Amino acid sequence: MATPADTVTDRSNSAVPDIEALATPTLDERGRQRFCSALRRFAIQDMPERLQQDFEERVKPAREAKGERLDTARAIDAALAGEDSYRFYSVLRYNAQEMCFLSVQEPVERALPEMIEVARDAAERSPAGGTLRLDPALEVPRYVTALDVHLTPGCFHSEYADDDVAQGAVVSLGARVFTASMNHRSWGGVAKVISRWVKHARPDFRPLRILDLGTSSGKNLLPYVEAFPGAEAYGVDVAAPLLRYGHALAEHEGVPIHFSQQNAETLDFPDGHFDLIVSSFFFHEIPVKATRRVLKECRRLLQPGGMMVHQELPATGLVDAWEDYFWNWDTDNNNEPFYTAFRAEDPIALCVEAGFDRDRCFAQILPDVNAYPDRHGAFGWDEPGRPRHGKGGWYVFGSSLAD
Ligand SMILES: C[S@@+](CC[C@H](N)C(=O)[O-])C[C@H]1O[C@@H](n2cnc3c(N)ncnc32)[C@H](O)[C@@H]1O
Repeated sequence: MATPADTVTDRSNSAVPDIEALATPTLDERGRQRFCSALRRFAIQDMPERLQQDFEERVKPAREAKGERLDTARAIDAALAGEDSYRFYSVLRYNAQEMCFLSVQEPVERALPEMIEVARDAAERSPAGGTLRLDPALEVPRYVTALDVHLTPGCFHSEYADDDVAQGAVVSLGARVFTASMNHRSWGGVAKVISRWVKHARPDFRPLRILDLGTSSGKNLLPYVEAFPGAEAYGVDVAAPLLRYGHALAEHEGVPIHFSQQNAETLDFPDGHFDLIVSSFFFHEIPVKATRRVLKECRRLLQPGGMMVHQELPATGLVDAWEDYFWNWDTDNNNEPFYTAFRAEDPIALCVEAGFDRDRCFAQILPDVNAYPDRHGAFGWDEPGRPRHGKGGWYVFGSSLAD
């Protein structure tokens, strides 16, 4: 029988505190974060336009006068590599990226003991009904452990304390600084874009189980639960700190999500377990041979009538030489060595190779929810006014299975 003291300490139904709110920056730290946001925005949005102008008006005519052809990303890269305009842009972009993550580290360190407590409490109680399944024996792939992906200090997987969540916080809050988003939820935009399009393209589709690959802390998984009420949501990632952090966030929000630490190349779910499989910002971070294995897993895990939609970087064959050159900067400069190789693949051929029917595969640009609130359908690739990936549109590829 419960004693009065037990009743007072029974928190089994109480809300999980907001783990994101704990790493409160001081006024100075906040100022630094705002500066980093503005610097990165300038470096990644404004400077490439100036660089392109310099290339078109000065570098290209001079080189072409000597008989060179500058119609591929590789040729543009070679022509610009030694130019001051490129070097200034590249150095600024590199440092802005790194500084965004560094700007959240101190507030995270101060709040870490409390964050770990919140995440432990969430894992013990899971009042929203989600789950957290970690596998300490999982071998995190070398393509994650070998370098600090996109210059995130400590990458995704590093653990410095028992039940550590520090990397969850650094990845999530750092990305908030570099995208200048206000909070965890406003950064779930890709999932809103994809779910809106899926509902528009297939009004009768009612997924019962949804899987997000490389879910990180699940910010691009939560919106699917809202778009498809009642669906069970599963997120897999190799990095335990991100999953602990994501689980605490989802439990705080009252959204039941089933997080598990698994390699997406070999998942432990049974065949045909999912109706909808999604991912965002994932494949360009893994080697192409791993992509092939993951897509085969998607084929195995989808049930008839199911669908997979992956948000990614546009393939080389779909963009002009300048855009191609712009995207590949990360390969050599941002610790994302698989960018160029992934983009060089034909995503539809990859899906076909994994067992999907070519006629049911797609690679297209979806309208961003904020840029096109009234437009729900995908843009045709040759449609006039089609937005670029990341500028009013999001590139996705995928496939579906027949009923
Ligand atoms: C850029 S993050 C993706 C972020 C997230 N999908 C989003 O939209 O915010 C890439 C994620 O993939 C995870 N990852 C890398 N290789 C993986 C693999 N083989 N299996 C599962 N997750 C993996 C990383 O740990 C990291 O969290």
